[in-house]
Amino acid sequence: MTDELVPGRELAALRALQSDKWRRFGPDVLPAHVAEMDYPVAAPIRAALAGRISRQDYGYPLPGGRDGGRLLAEAFAQRMADRFDWSPDPALVIPMGDLVQGLYACVLAFSDPGDGVIVLMPSYPKIREAVTANARRLLALTLRDDGERFAFDPAELEALASDRARLLIICNPHNPTGRVFSRAELRALGECAERHNLIVLVDEVHADLVYTGARHLSFAGLDPAFAVRSVTLNSATKSFNIPGLRCAVAAFGDRALLQRFSQRIPPRVLGDPNVFGLDATLAAWQDGQPWLAAVLTELEAARDRVVTVLRAAAPAIRIRAPEATYLAWLDCSGLELPVTASDYFLRAAGVALSPGQAFIPGGSACVRLNFATSPTLLEHILQRMLDALTRG
Ligand SMILES: Cc1ncc(COP(=O)(O)O)c(C=O)c1O
Repeated sequence: MTDELVPGRELAALRALQSDKWRRFGPDVLPAHVAEMDYPVAAPIRAALAGRISRQDYGYPLPGGRDGGRLLAEAFAQRMADRFDWSPDPALVIPMGDLVQGLYACVLAFSDPGDGVIVLMPSYPKIREAVTANARRLLALTLRDDGERFAFDPAELEALASDRARLLIICNPHNPTGRVFSRAELRALGECAERHNLIVLVDEVHADLVYTGARHLSFAGLDPAFAVRSVTLNSATKSFNIPGLRCAVAAFGDRALLQRFSQRIPPRVLGDPNVFGLDATLAAWQDGQPWLAAVLTELEAARDRVVTVLRAAAPAIRIRAPEATYLAWLDCSGLELPVTASDYFLRAAGVALSPGQAFIPGGSACVRLNFATSPTLLEHILQRMLDALTRG
């Protein structure tokens, strides 16, 4: 298997990477677990990083200057206005090392130990962790497959909000189900937050990865009453494939909210993003769109292929076509496997998938498959999985 995966990247080149995706397992395993893509990054990002190196420009950033985060905040605000009809105030956008750091900081700033935090489940593991590792109570709002899509029950949301909840965390588009929540669903979440005076943390890191037929709506852009109680977290790490460069933003919907946050979390605790992360994120948000549009076409084809192949050849695996993200949530309970689904596919197929139990307790019959790879490698991954099932 030495095929060129995407122009410029062969399997050997991927295996030489130092990332979790390509280092965690041995050479006999095809990795489809951690959420990053096998595509080379956009040319404007590569040029920005090369420029920094050629200038040997590694000094302290000038506060308020280009490297001080001001341009990043402006670029983020501009991108939200251009793409998602939401105009955050750049003065209320703060840069940080990564989005998960922002989640942790907001949980610490806006709640106390023992407080309830509502989380859509299954959930990206680090969102759950931001709640439980800080001794807050996780109030699970379960997304259930209603025959058409994964959806939450508004009555359950209302009951959870009444249970000493202080925060609501919305991941939209949703990892791992790939849902893009509708205006009505987001309004139901926002109105419940208003009734119960909840602060809403909105993780929109997958907002750029939305497929034909769906449209991402920014929660804070839906209603000024939602904005004032929200913090939106985002980064270019997923859509532009630069997670190792560590740069993210938190956009506060209200000055008083940012002041409250800063009283508990002094800016020095958060630190500043690395200048390489800033350069790459600026290049991505300002000049990366043509690259992203091309990648989205590839990802949509890959998504369709995964759904078509698995539905036809392994109907016992339940799969809903994700409306966004390059992740597919597979419910393998119909296979009645003797071990967890991720262990099964790792051992029997040599394919690494993210274990369902990391996303929801009791979810060990589920796995999350990352399909952001070349058509060739994706065929090998699917074929290995199907061959393992055929062998029994
Ligand atoms: C929902 C969600 N939030 C946050 C992250 C991580 O973002 P960052 O790399 O900026 O910490 C991921 C990564 O997969 C994710 O899926």
